[in-house]
Amino acid sequence: MVVLVLFSTWMVEFLVFSFLGLQCDLAKYTINVPDMVSVQEGLCVIIPCDFTYDPNDAIADSPLYGYWYEQGANADSNAAVATNNNQKRIEEYARGRFHLSEEVEHGNCSLIISDARRTDLKKYYFRMEQGPKAKFSYIKAEQNQPFVSVTELENPKIQMPEKLQAGHRVNITCIAPESCSWKRPHVSWEHLSHQVRSGIPAMQPNNPKDHISVFTFTPSVEDNGQELTCQVTYGEGLNPLHINETVRLNIHYPPQKLRISTEVMRSNKSLQNNTDSSQITVEKGDAVVLHCVVEGNPLPNMTWVKTLQPSGTLRLTSGNELRLLNVTTQDAGEYKCVAQNTEGFANTSVRLSLASNDASSQKVVNGVIGGLIVAGVIMLIIAAILVFKKFQRKRKTAIDLESYTKQKTVHNKSPPVFKEPNGIGLNHEEGKDVSEAQEKMEGGTEEIYSEPEEMYYASIIFNAQEAHPGVTSNSPPTEYAEIKKSQCTDFAGN
Ligand SMILES: *[C@@H]1O[C@H](CO)[C@@H](O)[C@H](O)[C@H]1NC(C)=O
Ligand SMILES: *[C@@H]1O[C@H](CO)[C@@H](O)[C@H](O)[C@H]1NC(C)=O
Ligand SMILES: *[C@@H]1O[C@H](CO)[C@@H](O)[C@H](O)[C@H]1NC(C)=O
Ligand SMILES: *[C@@H]1O[C@H](CO)[C@@H](O)[C@H](O)[C@H]1NC(C)=O
Ligand SMILES: *[C@@H]1O[C@H](CO)[C@@H](O)[C@H](O)[C@H]1NC(C)=O
Ligand SMILES: *[C@@H]1O[C@H](CO)[C@@H](O)[C@H](O)[C@H]1NC(C)=O
Ligand SMILES: *[C@@H]1O[C@H](CO)[C@@H](O)[C@H](O)[C@H]1NC(C)=O
Ligand SMILES: *[C@@H]1O[C@H](CO)[C@@H](O)[C@H](O)[C@H]1NC(C)=O
Repeated sequence: MVVLVLFSTWMVEFLVFSFLGLQCDLAKYTINVPDMVSVQEGLCVIIPCDFTYDPNDAIADSPLYGYWYEQGANADSNAAVATNNNQKRIEEYARGRFHLSEEVEHGNCSLIISDARRTDLKKYYFRMEQGPKAKFSYIKAEQNQPFVSVTELENPKIQMPEKLQAGHRVNITCIAPESCSWKRPHVSWEHLSHQVRSGIPAMQPNNPKDHISVFTFTPSVEDNGQELTCQVTYGEGLNPLHINETVRLNIHYPPQKLRISTEVMRSNKSLQNNTDSSQITVEKGDAVVLHCVVEGNPLPNMTWVKTLQPSGTLRLTSGNELRLLNVTTQDAGEYKCVAQNTEGFANTSVRLSLASNDASSQKVVNGVIGGLIVAGVIMLIIAAILVFKKFQRKRKTAIDLESYTKQKTVHNKSPPVFKEPNGIGLNHEEGKDVSEAQEKMEGGTEEIYSEPEEMYYASIIFNAQEAHPGVTSNSPPTEYAEIKKSQCTDFAGN
């Protein structure tokens, strides 16, 4: 009997049957069940199962009962976890949660466990009974007793391509932990951006498995950084189970909205900030900070290049900032910021011009004033020279006329008569000085000098005859004039 105790239950049954003298064909009692199933806490699992028995041991119209027990439980004394026998007691913890397939009569011994709990983690075995003799617990081998593994409930998993690109259609998949029809999952998507929300109808309605949902949409730049949530609800009614998973969308797009902001500093004082400039004017010596602002994913790297005249470019620096700390004339020109990332590149430029600053304009003013002064001095000198020359001439003329008037006053008793020697016109002394002087002295003689351009001059010598002492008052005095015409090399007067 000590040996019998060591026998497993099926051996006991076998012995019982044998003892009763019944021939049981044990080979006809088979079961097909996985040796292990896994379920997440709170979810539902079906342990698929089918079994056979020897119909010769049973009467067809007697009821067929199936039972699931915990491993090691006594089929007679212990409660079952699931059965189709209403008379059988059910373990407290299993009530309403463990269910035997309704098709036991057809050899379906599947066990459904819903709202799985940690305490459900154990091995179970199946037993069938149909009168009068078909009573069998399928515990022959360890692998016939499925192990139910209960694990912690996990969030759904979101699968998407490694790289999402703006404007490229994409399938995003949410895989929720599997469950059975008793606690079916309902998957929905949520997104902060309205645009994508409206894309939800693109979600595929007929998924091969209801725990997998595919969300098809075309991401835009605005979706970058937005959150996409896959929300899964298991079961309805009293205590539905909610899980969710959120991903932040990382949408790749080329550099865009490129602009250059500028800050101009003079004598360490910030003068002006411009958030978007294509043109700035600064002064020599100013400090200028050019800042390139760009959007793009991945973050674009930036390079500053200067456009050279007449053609070509000069690479200055990388990084989004370019500092020109002491602007000189050579710094004027076009500065281009080139932004690049894996998706593409873009560029924008700012033109830096130099305004003439205070110091140099002062120089110009000084120059102008200086020039004016110099010109003035020169003019004064010229004027002085002219005046001096005039004075000199006047003096000379005065001397000549003086000598002339002396002679005249000595010999003349009537106005002098001009004789035209050989038809040569007597004319054209430079300046009217002489004639004026004559006019003054002689009182309204006809003008004999006119155009000063023609540099002829004449010298007139009056030869008055010595008057006879006796006839002085009677006879008119006779005068002779000798007129010499010569070129202008000499000043008149011999
Ligand atoms: C067995 O029963 C379970 C639960 O009712 C069911 O899901 C499964 O489809 C059945 N198996 C077969 C082979 O009919
Ligand atoms: C998304 O899934 C559908 C259906 O499986 C397929 O026809 C389509 O090509 C997929 N699109 C992409 C971008 O993978
Ligand atoms: C997602 O689940 C967490 C708990 O895991 C919950 O606090 C949160 O409200 C859920 N979010 C959504 C959008 O359902
Ligand atoms: C500007 O400030 C720096 C330090 O901040 C100093 O070294 C420099 O001398 C200053 N320049 C002028 C012109 O004040
Ligand atoms: C320009 O911006 C800098 C900071 O970026 C600030 O310190 C400075 O005062 C601003 N200057 C002007 C003129 O607004
Ligand atoms: C700026 O450059 C000029 C000419 O090169 C130089 O004379 C001046 O000292 C510089 N100023 C500063 C603050 O570096
Ligand atoms: C900038 O990024 C592009 C693409 O990511 C890369 O090919 C290039 O070498 C980078 N340039 C610099 C200066 O980092
Ligand atoms: C700047 O962009 C224009 C097109 O917008 C392109 O033709 C040019 O080659 C770019 N320049 C550089 C230096 O990348």
